[in-house]
Amino acid sequence: MRSLEQTGLVAAKSFLIEQDYTKYTLSQHALWSELVARRMAQLEQCACREYLEGWHALGLERERIPRLAGISERLARRTGWSVQPVSGFMPSRAFFEMLAARRFPTTTWLRSRESMDYTPEPDILHDALGHLPMFAEQSFADAVAEYGRVCYAMDSEEKLERMGRLVWYTFEFGLIRQEGAVKVYGSGVASSQAECTNVLSGNCEIRDFSVAEVLNTTVKVDQIHTRLFAIDSIAEILGAVHEAREIVEGD
Ligand SMILES: [Fe+2]
Repeated sequence: MRSLEQTGLVAAKSFLIEQDYTKYTLSQHALWSELVARRMAQLEQCACREYLEGWHALGLERERIPRLAGISERLARRTGWSVQPVSGFMPSRAFFEMLAARRFPTTTWLRSRESMDYTPEPDILHDALGHLPMFAEQSFADAVAEYGRVCYAMDSEEKLERMGRLVWYTFEFGLIRQEGAVKVYGSGVASSQAECTNVLSGNCEIRDFSVAEVLNTTVKVDQIHTRLFAIDSIAEILGAVHEAREIVEGD
């Protein structure tokens, strides 16, 4: 992992931190292990191929909270991305800057036992277990970098709000059809027992992915989803980023 002085990041600079691995307690490692066991029991059945391959390729461990520096090295060798610990929620410009630079902002704190099922802000379970495995897939990794580049260049909050819907229904809550079944690749579904169970139980309408429809579908951050979108291939996402930019810029 590059040191903070070498980052070249401007907007994101004040959010960058180091992961202090010595601060995690034994009970936090045990909680991670419990959370991962519960999530993987479901994900081994319903996560997409690329997610499961990425999990193993990055060396994520079930028994211990991830050491982000080691994962970052493996990720860099595979897709040119790195993992950058950050202090928490970031404003959009800082976030896009990091994506464009192929640095994935990852929180280092772990939810408490009392909040095992839900945290309003992303923690290391959401960021590392949920997001990181997909960044080991080149076409996904390239699409997110392009999304960051496109959004970093946009100057209108209204346009960015619409581009946010694309990221919400792909990187965060995206589904994919593989081998005749609906599989999960978005972190918000992968890391959440409730969202994943909701999808698997058939309580969520699954629409064929359409950029135009996604851009017209508002995001509700604090409700279980009743409508999500399924792509047919991870390679579609890059094209969706370009199509969304054209629609949003043309409005
Ligand atoms: Fe996320």
